[in-house]
Amino acid sequence: MDLHPDIERVLLSEDDIKGIVSRLGAEISRDYADKNPLVVTVLRGAFIFTADLMRAITVPCAVDFMAVSSYGSGVKSSGVVRIVKDLDTNIEGRHVIIAEDILDSGLTLSYLVGLLKGRGAASIRIVAFSVKDIEGHAAAVVPNYVGAHVPDAFVVGYGLDFAERYRNLPYVGVLKPEVYS
Ligand code: PRP
Repeated sequence: MDLHPDIERVLLSEDDIKGIVSRLGAEISRDYADKNPLVVTVLRGAFIFTADLMRAITVPCAVDFMAVSSYGSGVKSSGVVRIVKDLDTNIEGRHVIIAEDILDSGLTLSYLVGLLKGRGAASIRIVAFSVKDIEGHAAAVVPNYVGAHVPDAFVVGYGLDFAERYRNLPYVGVLKPEVYS
């Protein structure tokens, strides 16, 4: 596939992504046999990853969706999260796996874990397709399953957007600075 003209370089190719997702699916299938986990997708970015992950999980599992938005500048998470769309599932006693496309500050997930714990989930784990490596800065949560580490750059594709664009790129790439500056 031709590289999109706004992309500087590819970080994770389609083949890389396939390998990552099948590894994560195998790890989760091993850990959740007979637990019927509920995979909670945090919209919007994680929808593509979740769609692939669900098909890589070989044990019974269910899916539900949440949409959240951070208050603040809109560029960086503030840790104050507003629920835009809540789960339809009662999670009391359920084994929940929160699926995220990218973990940056971890503030969004830290908030969500606290919220879902308060609703009586039997267990909560996090699967992050990607984790941003930020020098000198620890994320607010540690994911249980990690797909790949990505540099602290403007990363788009495979669900990740810039101003709602590029989510549909089948690979993960770094945006050219002239696109966002
Ligand atoms: C992204 C991503 C996470 C959050 C991670 O969502 O999907 O939800 O930011 O950042 P944090 O670790 O610093 O909290 P975004 O707010 O861009 O919304 P989107 O999923 O609709 O793209």
